[in-house]
Order: sequence, then structure tokens, then C-alpha cells
Amino acid sequence: MNKDDTPELFSVIATHYDFLNHLLSFNFDRTWRQRLVSLSCFQPDSRILDVCTGTGDIAIEFACRGAHDVTGLDLSAGMLARAQQKIEKLNLATRIKLEKGSALNLPYADMTFDLVTIGFGLRNLPDYARGISEMARVLKPLGRLFILEFSLPPNKLTYGFYSLYLKIYLPLAGRLFSGSARAYSYLASSIFNFLNQKEVIGLMRESGLRNVFCLNLTAGVVTLYSGQK
Ligand SMILES: C[S@@+](CC[C@H](N)C(=O)[O-])C[C@H]1O[C@@H](n2cnc3c(N)ncnc32)[C@H](O)[C@@H]1O
Repeated sequence: MNKDDTPELFSVIATHYDFLNHLLSFNFDRTWRQRLVSLSCFQPDSRILDVCTGTGDIAIEFACRGAHDVTGLDLSAGMLARAQQKIEKLNLATRIKLEKGSALNLPYADMTFDLVTIGFGLRNLPDYARGISEMARVLKPLGRLFILEFSLPPNKLTYGFYSLYLKIYLPLAGRLFSGSARAYSYLASSIFNFLNQKEVIGLMRESGLRNVFCLNLTAGVVTLYSGQK
């Protein structure tokens, strides 16, 4: 599948996306996003951009914890519509603004945000280096970028079980619950084909970010990266 088609694919699964995320990750997805927000050390008045916001869970987590100025950006109208419904239901519309746009060409001036985040979005971009350098560009000096992304566990045994989960369970559950085996086969292959931690860190440094580090979450099936401008 061509990566330029992924926003379309996400629009198809938007209504089931949150339910399947929680089901397929055994609810770990909530704790991964919470960990990102906890580590970000944001202030209530921080200007925060969540790129590839999807149904808005990272933006919502920031706003629920007191952030006043959060922007969520995504290319998929279907995912943004679902995010808007959730934001209104939680009375967070004064704190979170949603915008349709591309992560590869962010519609913001240089040095606009104190904090930029992207959760499970980088892997879907056709050009990872461009995505990271765009996020670095819109950060203010000393601002921080946080990337949450799937990764492959370093332990061989865990890797074996995880491969079976990705190759067999994920497409099957995706077909049963969302009606789109294609979307969930894509998810598995995008995880296998994504960069390793060294490569992501290399791209972050090439974009001018410093103090870069990464943390393995849940035995390394997810990695949280951070770098400072
Ligand atoms: C796996 S979802 C992640 C959603 C959310 N961040 C989360 O934590 O659940 C990936 C999102 O990236 C969006 N996306 C893919 N390519 C994009 C692009 N070039 N620019 C902006 N968003 C994009 C998709 O529409 C989708 O909503």
C-alpha cells in the first residue's frame, strides 16, 4: 500500500479506531500516551502541537491535565471528525483546536510551539526525515519533541511472541471488529518496516535536536523518543 493513501485508510476505520486500539493493545495504549504527557513537563500555558492527532487522545490528555493551548493536526477528515466529537463531549473545545493539514508541510511559522508530539504517526509518513525536521522547525528554542512509536522488542523470546501477534492475531482481530483486514495487515507490516531506535535518534539529531533519549515501554513494543531544540 502506498503511504500517501494512509489518511484515507484511517478515515475508513475512524469509528472503530479507539475501540480497536484499546482491544488490540490490551489497554496499554492509554498508559503509553499518559507516560508521554507525564514526561513532557508541560505548563498550563505551553503552546502544544500534536501532529497526526487522529481521534485526539494525546491532545485530550494534555487538555484534561490543564493545558490551555493545544492544537491537533491530521490529514484525515474522518479521524478529525471523531476527535471533534470527543472534545465537545468532554467540554474541551476552548482548549483544543483541530486543523486539517500535512505533517510533511506543517502550516505554522518557525518557532511557534513549546512542545510538539506525535503518537503512532511517524511510521505512517512517506518521508520520516521530513516529518521530524518539520516538527523541529516549528519548535521554539529549548522546546521539546516527543515521539511515541511502535518498535520491535530487543529480547528474542518476546520478539517471537510479538511477531506472531502482529502476523496472525492483529489482521484477524482487525477483520472481525473493523471489517478492514487491509488496515490491520498494513499496521503489522508498517511496524516491521519501520526504523530502529538508532535510526530514529539519528534523524532527530540531524534535524538539530539535542539531549535526545529514548525509553522502551512495555518490553520495547513501543518506544518514547524525546529531543530538545
Ligand atoms: C495510527 S494513527 C495515530 C493517531 C493518534 N496520534 C493516536 O495516538 O492514536 C495515525 C494518524 O496519522 C495520520 N496521518 C497519516 N499521514 C499523515 C500526514 N502526512 N499528515 C498528517 N497526518 C497524517 C492518519 O490520518 C492517522 O490519523
